[in-house]
Amino acid sequence: MSFDKGLAKTVAAETEMSFIDGERGVLEYVGIDIDSLARNATFEEVVYLLWNRRLPTRDELGRFVQLLRSNSELPEPAWDMIRSIPPDAAPMHALQTMVSSLALFDPEADINTPEANDLKAVRLLSKTPALIANFDRHRKGLDMVRPRQDLSIAGGFIYMLTGEEPTETMERALDVCLILHADHGLNASTFASRVCISTLSDLYSAITAAIGTLRGPLHGGANEAVMHMLDEIGSMDDVESYLDERLRNKDKIMGFGHRVYKTFDPRATYLKTFAEQLAADTGNTDLYQMSRLIEQIMHERVGDRGIHPNVDFYSATTYFSIGLDVDLFTPMFAMSRIAGWAGHCIEQLSDNRLIRPKASYVGPHEQPWVDIDDR
Ligand code: SDX
Repeated sequence: MSFDKGLAKTVAAETEMSFIDGERGVLEYVGIDIDSLARNATFEEVVYLLWNRRLPTRDELGRFVQLLRSNSELPEPAWDMIRSIPPDAAPMHALQTMVSSLALFDPEADINTPEANDLKAVRLLSKTPALIANFDRHRKGLDMVRPRQDLSIAGGFIYMLTGEEPTETMERALDVCLILHADHGLNASTFASRVCISTLSDLYSAITAAIGTLRGPLHGGANEAVMHMLDEIGSMDDVESYLDERLRNKDKIMGFGHRVYKTFDPRATYLKTFAEQLAADTGNTDLYQMSRLIEQIMHERVGDRGIHPNVDFYSATTYFSIGLDVDLFTPMFAMSRIAGWAGHCIEQLSDNRLIRPKASYVGPHEQPWVDIDDR
């Protein structure tokens, strides 16, 4: 039995949801490549695909969308709870707190049957947009905006966030971002959710554990860190010296590298096109141009070591162009990944074994007890 640091070489689960080929830069959801899904599907359609392992018929999709929308309202006390959160709280802390609180109002919170978990997955996915958007409104001193049942998840989020009808471009941009972030094999936050549910804990606890795990800058928090990096660099003239200094110091460049992809992350390919289009639409191309220069210099410096842009590199510019505050970037990632996390938890329970790896003890043995006054 060997110690596999970071479990980089360990297969810890089997899944039917997403397939990743890190050498060829391939990502498929239930066998359909991510590019086809980003071009043709809606986020709701992708969620149905992930949870049911097949695409829905038109009627099935209509019923599923209706089920999501009819579950988008928050429990009444949740609105006051949002108002009680300190306005300067980190949105990911607010999200983790509020998602966890949903369990307090769900009579099925502790029922682990497939039917109960399917419904809890729907509740979690459909309520999260209102939690994120209305925390942002609360911290800005704006009135709460309740979810509308005639809008998509992406459109409804933009409506609650801004108080205005979403433009078609913005709604589609966000819908594609939600598709691209929905699932990704056994990443750290998905693994955390599977470890939690493998103890037969509940879905709310598992999703809360996943949100806390996603937050880290080595994982979903990287999209915010990319934006801070772009701000820190400041001007195109300083890109090369900034990168060279950080690489010399062995610092990680946010938005680059991946545990599995050793070539371009296919989601980054798509988001790069999107970021360019949105930058042109908004007329603010500076960040996109700087991102392109960073990509080019990183390719020259470390491309031969398999360090390429990952999903977080161009999602930062895309979310910025959509008009999101930087500290809402990772909550957006969570809003989408709830689909993957819930799907993986239900998959874990379908053939469960408690996830409990070993640790190799490297400390001393045969140590004597010493009374406190003799130490
Ligand atoms: C996500 O797993 C998933 O699927 C995650 C995700 C998902 O959809 O769920 O894809 C989302 O989390 C994407 C990754 C977002 N994180 C970042 O952008 C943070 C920056 N990236 C790095 O921290 C790093 O690339 C990781 C954490 C993503 C992967 O790290 P590994 O696999 O543990 O690799 P490593 O840190 O051991 O690096 C190997 C070598 C090292 O050099 P040496 O010590 O061998 O000389 O590559 C270097 C690293 O220094 N390296 C980098 C680098 N990433 C790796 N050098 C500079 N900048 C980087 N970004």
